[in-house]
Amino acid sequence: MSDDEIKSFPEKKRMFYPPRKFVEQANLRDPSVYSRATSEEGWEIFWEDFAKDLEWIVPWEKFIDTSNIPFYKFFVGGRINVSYNCIDRHLETKRNKAAIIWEGEPEGETRVLTYQDLYREVSKFANVLKSLGVGKGDRVAIYLPMIPELPIAMLACARIGAVHSVVFAGFSSQALAARIDDAKAKILITCDGYYRRGKIIDQKARADEALKHLKEAEIDHIIVAKRAENEVVFSEKDLWWHEVVMDSSQKCTVEKMDAEDMHFIIYTSGTTGKPKGVVHTVGGYLVYAYATTKTIFDLKENDIYWCTADIGWITGHTYIVYGPLSNGATILMYEGAPDTPHKGRFWEIIEKHHVTIFYTAPTAIRLFMKWGEKYLENYDLKSLRLLGSVGEPINPEAWWWYHNNIGGGNCPIVDTWWQTETGGAVITPLPSLTPLKPGSATKPFPGIFVDVFNEKGEPTKPGERGYLVIKRPWPGMLRTLFKDPERYVSTYWSRYGKEIYFSGDAAKKDEDGYIWVIGRVDDAIKVAGHRLSTMEIESAVLEVKNVAEAAVVTRPHEIKGNEIVIYVTPKEGVEADEEMGKKVILHIREAIGAIATPGLVVFTSDLPKTRSGKIMRRILRAIASKDEIGDLSTLANPEIVETLDNSVKRGVSGVIIAG
Ligand code: PRX
Repeated sequence: MSDDEIKSFPEKKRMFYPPRKFVEQANLRDPSVYSRATSEEGWEIFWEDFAKDLEWIVPWEKFIDTSNIPFYKFFVGGRINVSYNCIDRHLETKRNKAAIIWEGEPEGETRVLTYQDLYREVSKFANVLKSLGVGKGDRVAIYLPMIPELPIAMLACARIGAVHSVVFAGFSSQALAARIDDAKAKILITCDGYYRRGKIIDQKARADEALKHLKEAEIDHIIVAKRAENEVVFSEKDLWWHEVVMDSSQKCTVEKMDAEDMHFIIYTSGTTGKPKGVVHTVGGYLVYAYATTKTIFDLKENDIYWCTADIGWITGHTYIVYGPLSNGATILMYEGAPDTPHKGRFWEIIEKHHVTIFYTAPTAIRLFMKWGEKYLENYDLKSLRLLGSVGEPINPEAWWWYHNNIGGGNCPIVDTWWQTETGGAVITPLPSLTPLKPGSATKPFPGIFVDVFNEKGEPTKPGERGYLVIKRPWPGMLRTLFKDPERYVSTYWSRYGKEIYFSGDAAKKDEDGYIWVIGRVDDAIKVAGHRLSTMEIESAVLEVKNVAEAAVVTRPHEIKGNEIVIYVTPKEGVEADEEMGKKVILHIREAIGAIATPGLVVFTSDLPKTRSGKIMRRILRAIASKDEIGDLSTLANPEIVETLDNSVKRGVSGVIIAG
């Protein structure tokens, strides 16, 4: 959201109050939950009550250990298994309830796995992993698309205490290799191929290619799930999923995990080129996923819950797999794109499966808005009772469109602010209790202490811009960065000292205490809701032959929220041309993936720099966004600004040679 949009906080009359019909049936109706959860005596009890809903092998002795901050521990001394709590715990009462309803991209392909099916498949696969020598603490890389084998593999790891690192299926081979190397995974789980926009993506070939790039890790085996039946090249290391599970036992005892044992690693973009391995642990993460899913989504026994995220991102980990399954819910999983084979596909799926809760991203909502209401006409969306949004600020226009057209004017929208690092939603409405202001993620979840600080570490006044911070630890928080505890401390716990979590986001509070998130203040960027790093993209561009310098910025984009713009200076004596531009784009796709494809590449003989040689990205951003350029007095080479500005004004997208 732009500063201008935020300046005019919506008037009160634009507030949306939870409809009576919704409130009457809601799980949480007592507003005192907020004061109880944030009171000194009530804080621990609030979290412990959720923890008590789960089954512990050994109960915890202490809620929190603060003896070595910021390395907090939760549910100290407790032993628990995530897989057991997501599956076995429900068998007695929900054995034949659908756990996963899966919809393939080709129409007509549906698979339903009951809790009993999930129990069997997870146990079998867990035994396969064990037989291949995978034990507690070993890392397993998973490079699977949205097929049931993905949650099965994750839950199988959790069952035996192995640590999964799920890598988004759309990442490139090189990105996969970097993540396997960092985690030193010894098993890779992938598939032959999968469907995306009507085409088969050859995933196995990409996995094979990744192995060629490995520098440190040694993969013992690749387990390949059969999905698209495309032809694959098999080597000695490769095993077919369906063959190895065939004779595997359906019983697999669960590993008694310490609450603070590592559950998974998930890589996210950071302030340098190297992705950060965010570490989540077993007990606190599960309690957090369970508690937030139950309350924010007001889950009921008969809900059909659809979160459209990819499980390759944290949203999918927490709000497709661990949160809903620990609640015994029915989740819907869709393999493909929203416009395949037609632009009404999502609505068709909602009607077909009677989806009641729908959680998606603003970038998707803007796309639907652009396509128009005609794609909704043929479908009955009346089953929906609650909507959600995540990943970036939702602009009020998109909010109202979502509310009126998808929610039929009466579904609350939970706009949830959180991060890979927070494990689950941190700022969010409770749908039956919080009046909504379109564009604001509203208020902190009960038991969470959020504020907006100025440079000096003081809380800002209403309307003042500052940094979003969390003032007390919470069970779902990351515990460290894999193999890099110093970076954990310096990234999150240094800006305002070791007791204040620094989110990296700018925000404002309004006079009602509602929080308005503005966006990132570091070099992380959000493109179509995906978190990328400008440094990561710059290092990829610098690998291209004849590139001397590169600077990556974003400009606003109607659908994606932001779009990548890259300025490149070729080496002395090299003439940049369209061909070189294509090479830059291709290389970014190879190094990171299609999600990082730039909207514009600008070749220039020089970049605006300060006298000490620092690239002025602020100016490059203003040029790309066609904004006011502002003060140029600190520049060593102000003349380049006009040249660049004139050239960018001429070009819309693609490759531009400035000058
Ligand atoms: O800038 C915030 C934005 O997404 C960042 C976290 O990205 P990631 O780790 O990929 O996790 C995304 C899924 C939770 C945040 O620092 N962000 C996320 N949700 C919102 C948001 N910005 C505004 N409103 C939101 N609801």
